[in-house]
Amino acid sequence: MTIRILVGALVLSAALPAIVQAQDAPVALAPATVAPERIVLNLTSDPATEMAVTWRSAPGTAGQVQYARATNSPDYVKSPMTQAATTDDATLPVREDPAFRAAYHSAVLKGLDPDTVYAYRVGDGTRWSEWFQFRTAKQEAAPFRFIYMGDMQNNILSEASRTLRMAFRQAGDAAFVIHAGDLVNRHDSDAEWGEWFASGGFLYAQTPQMPTPGNHEYVKDESARAGSSITGQWRRQFTLPDDGPTDVPAGRETNWYTDYQGLRLISIDSMQVDRDEKARKAIVKWLDGLLANNPNRWTVMFLHFPLFSSEPGRDNPKVRAALKPLIDKYHVDLVLQGHDHGYARGAIGPDGPTTDDQGATYAVSVAGPKMYEVGPLSWARKSASRTQAFQVIDVTPDELTYHAYTATGENLDAVTLRKR
Ligand SMILES: [Fe+2]
Ligand SMILES: [Fe+2]
Repeated sequence: MTIRILVGALVLSAALPAIVQAQDAPVALAPATVAPERIVLNLTSDPATEMAVTWRSAPGTAGQVQYARATNSPDYVKSPMTQAATTDDATLPVREDPAFRAAYHSAVLKGLDPDTVYAYRVGDGTRWSEWFQFRTAKQEAAPFRFIYMGDMQNNILSEASRTLRMAFRQAGDAAFVIHAGDLVNRHDSDAEWGEWFASGGFLYAQTPQMPTPGNHEYVKDESARAGSSITGQWRRQFTLPDDGPTDVPAGRETNWYTDYQGLRLISIDSMQVDRDEKARKAIVKWLDGLLANNPNRWTVMFLHFPLFSSEPGRDNPKVRAALKPLIDKYHVDLVLQGHDHGYARGAIGPDGPTTDDQGATYAVSVAGPKMYEVGPLSWARKSASRTQAFQVIDVTPDELTYHAYTATGENLDAVTLRKR
């Protein structure tokens, strides 16, 4: 009897496809709470003197931020500055409820002192969050580290969150976290966005989160053409640098850059590069200007669609043709990507794969549980299948060390770049 059941189970498992895809568990919509929720920091164009904070609360609630230089004594709470937020309280139809409404608040704190710890809280003047703390950037080039996450996207809270949380265990002092797109699977699912925010919890309120959009943050995915648009959740739930190309209206806060302690960080909205010819031209022109006039020692670009895929059948020739000449011409150091649900890393110069210091280093990674098989790759110096991973990048004036870890915290890959 036992044997028969076992054999039956074996036959059943043999009939399953080789790649088991993560199935999104059903997620439930929750109404926005009266107390502040989904609190997230974002860097602005000037991380030494500004910080953006975004959150939401129940419809009809106002938004304020109180902030002060943090002190070791509890006295910082005595006379904080108060700033009113910009609030969008209009209906935002979501997948689970076309009449869904919440008050989305956003504030940019300005005139801050560099390299200083601030405490802040958000609320409506009566009900407040706890006090959170962040540190502003130094004005000058100085060592720091940041975390790079690939797609979280599926079973976000139940299975992707462990990767993010291990990243914070390993590098809790990171200056910020970049997310290479596909944060969620269904752009308009408020429940999935709720899972994304629950995965980071209070960590998002103390460490700036810096996402670039993936195809799953777009209203149309496979059939997307010019005119397709980013999810309404994007600019309501994040306050990213609004310094992208001015002639790509749909690209506000999706193409952006910021300079952090000697590093220029650039987000490229790869959906627009891939699917919209007019936007592509504008983005390329903007990027050329950013790279030609770059006072920083290091340049990191990140985008969702890989220029070099971890799966040859998922090639993005338009994105590569548009961006690679500029990456080569201006010696971009790192290109960090998502979308392929596998892991790969290698250096590629104008003439193809090369040694680590002779071309840009390209990486593809995935944080969540959805996996595509990674076959042999001519360009990659390291690759891995079925591996949830996160990356920690340490930046100093002379060296940039890229370190990939698995979701359980094991070493997966590492490379150190030195300035030529
Ligand atoms: Fe994707
Ligand atoms: Fe994805």
